[in-house]
Amino acid sequence: MASDRVLHERVKKILYSLTGITLAENKDIMIANRLHKLKRDTKYTGDIDHLLDAIEEGSFTMEFINSFTTNKTHFFREEFHFTDLRDRVLPQFANSGRDVKMYCSASSTGEEPYSMAMTVLETQDLLNSRINASIIATDIDTNVLQYAANGVYRYAKSSKEFPNWIKPPKFFKRRVNKTLTTEEILIKVKPELQKMVTFQVNNLNDSSYPFQKDYFDVIFCRNVLIYFSSEDQNKILKRLFSHLKIGGTLYLGHSENPHDLVNYVDRIGQNIFIKKKEYN
Ligand SMILES: C[S@@+](CC[C@H](N)C(=O)[O-])C[C@H]1O[C@@H](n2cnc3c(N)ncnc32)[C@H](O)[C@@H]1O
Repeated sequence: MASDRVLHERVKKILYSLTGITLAENKDIMIANRLHKLKRDTKYTGDIDHLLDAIEEGSFTMEFINSFTTNKTHFFREEFHFTDLRDRVLPQFANSGRDVKMYCSASSTGEEPYSMAMTVLETQDLLNSRINASIIATDIDTNVLQYAANGVYRYAKSSKEFPNWIKPPKFFKRRVNKTLTTEEILIKVKPELQKMVTFQVNNLNDSSYPFQKDYFDVIFCRNVLIYFSSEDQNKILKRLFSHLKIGGTLYLGHSENPHDLVNYVDRIGQNIFIKKKEYN
C-alpha cells in the first residue's frame, strides 16, 4: 500500500483533473477524512489504492467528486449583495416586460438561489409590481443539488440567519418532524420560490458552459473561486463573464477578486461589479 504522502498526492491529482479544485498543502487530515467517507459511500471493501485505480478508470466519479467538495453555505450569506439586488438591480425590471435572468454558479444546498428568489418576491411586494425572474442554479456536486431541489431545511427558532426584512413563514411551510427538538423545526420552501429556480449540474472548470453568450443579467459566483488556483480562477471568471450582459451585475465572495476583468467592470460596492464591456 502507498504511503500517505503518495496517496494524498494521487488524490489531489485526480481531484484536480475532475473538478479543477486545488487542495492546499496542509489538507492531510481533510483528505484522510474524505477518503474514509468515499469508502463508506461507495461501499468499497478493497484497499484505497484499488479504489483510486477504479476512479481513474471512470468508476465512482460522482461519489469521488461529492466526497471532496466543501458545501458550507447559509441563507442570505453576505446580505449586502441581496440588498443591492433588491434596491438597485430588480427595480429596473419591475413592470418592464423584461425578464431578469440570474445565475447562481455554485449553489451548494440551495440557500443562495432561494435567497435570490425570496429577494425577488420581496421586491415585488415592496414595489407593488410584477418582476419576471428566472434563476439557474448549478453545482458540480449532485448530492447538494438533490438536497436543494427538495428544498427542506432545518431551522432553529433562535436563528439570526434571515435578515429582518425577510419573514420566513412567507416563504416556507413548516414540516412536522418528531425527531427534532422544540427549538428546531423543518421548513420547506413554498412552490412560488421553487418554481423560480432550476437546478442542474455544471462544472465551472469545463471549457464551456451550456448557456448562451450575454444571457444573464446577474451572476452570483461566491465562495467557490477560493478552491481554484489563481490561473484557473481567472479562466473561470472570463468564461462566466462571457455569459453576462453588458450592464449586468457580477457578485463575488468576500475573499475573491475579478483578476483580469478589473478593467472591464465598474466596482460599485463590496465585491459587486457591473460589466462595462466585453473582455477580449
Ligand atoms: C463553499 S460552497 C459556496 C456556496 C455558496 N455559493 C455560498 O457562497 O454560500 C462551494 C460550492 O462550490 C461547489 N464547487 C466546487 N467545485 C466546483 C466546480 N468545479 N464546479 C461547480 N461547482 C463547484 C461545491 O460543490 C460547493 O457546493
